[in-house]
Amino acid sequence: MTEKKKILVTGGLGFIGSHTVVELQNEGFEVVIVDNLSNSSEEVLDGITRITGKTPCFEKMDLREKEKVQDFFARHRDISGVIHFAASKAVGESVEKPLLYYENNINTLVYLLQELSAREGACFIFSSSCTVYGQADELPITENAPVKKAESPYGNTKQIGEEIIADTCSVYPELKAISLRYFNPIGAHPSAEIGELPLGVPQNLVPFITQTAAGLRDQLSVFGGDYPTADGTGVRDYIHVVDLAKAHVVALQRLLQAENASNYEVFNVGTGTGSSVLEVIGSFERVSGEKLNYRIVDRRPGDVTAAYADTSRANTELGWEARSTLDEAIASAWKWEKKIRKI
Ligand code: NAD
Ligand code: WQD
Repeated sequence: MTEKKKILVTGGLGFIGSHTVVELQNEGFEVVIVDNLSNSSEEVLDGITRITGKTPCFEKMDLREKEKVQDFFARHRDISGVIHFAASKAVGESVEKPLLYYENNINTLVYLLQELSAREGACFIFSSSCTVYGQADELPITENAPVKKAESPYGNTKQIGEEIIADTCSVYPELKAISLRYFNPIGAHPSAEIGELPLGVPQNLVPFITQTAAGLRDQLSVFGGDYPTADGTGVRDYIHVVDLAKAHVVALQRLLQAENASNYEVFNVGTGTGSSVLEVIGSFERVSGEKLNYRIVDRRPGDVTAAYADTSRANTELGWEARSTLDEAIASAWKWEKKIRKI
């Protein structure tokens, strides 16, 4: 790359954001992180620095403060692209506190787009989710599958977010945007310098598994053993967070370089392979050599039976594909858990 492009990464100290900052810096981008530390800590900067040899610029800021967002863009006129990770992401909490979720996930998006729509050739990448598909009628899930009525305010913020971007792009042809619909991101950087840091009791499968094995939790509850799947447990598409991070870099390069027919595109980002809960547990036991204490209990309300991606569009258009196996991803999650628990 000849010219060093400056990229704003919102939520860049969080789980997926921090791994993406690493990949951006490795590709020669200059990164500015904005994060309010509501679900992360400033120490993540040290991990990024140890991996890449470079400390990204960091501004502690809450994107719900519109004047601060305006002031940020007035001070950084040379931003070429924005990758917007900052959001609240706990599905259950969103049911309890819908307005917190609508404010944090929608207002922040609108404030960023208001700034970008006033700029020439601005590029924007949005963290969307496979949750927009709900229980898809056909598997694997293509981007053309219908968006189902959201099961939670969190899921709704992703659907509404995509609509806001589409509506904005249709009236600002200069603005170029991509929504990436992540399937289930797991794992940590292979160096174990950065990883996932869930606050409180993890809601997601893999951190619950590693915390159980590390002795923080007594037992994993497997939610449902009577699904119409091969072994009766739910099936998901678990993608290594480093593969996911790399998808952001290629999506950004597409926006910065290519003359696409449409200035707004949507891509699934997954591995294309579904794994059941019992297969994930089996993978964990294989790579860790630990026996996991688990018990099959009732289904968790709101869970779908099975979801995994058709990744052909990302493979073809972005030239990207997930490289890591489930075992590699789980091994990296376990290495990270052992490091932070000093096991
Ligand atoms: P995360 O909580 O680890 O990271 C989000 C970061 O944003 C945190 O560092 C948090 O402090 C920051 N943040 C939140 N609100 C902010 C605000 N108002 N101003 C500034 N910073 C703010 O979450 P993650 O897992 O890295 O997820 C990143 C994005 O990807 C989110 O938009 C999430 O909805 C989406 N996503 C995540 C998953 C997943 O399973 N992790 C799946 C699909 C989509
Ligand atoms: C995976 C599988 C559970 C925990 C959630 C959000 C979704 C997206 C990704 C952001 C399911 C089972 C889980 C446990 C279990 N996030 N499980 N015991 O539900 O696919 O998606 O995260 O956009 O919006 O809903 O991920 O990791 O919670 O569950 O048996 O303690 O593991 O039933 O089959 P999910 P998950």
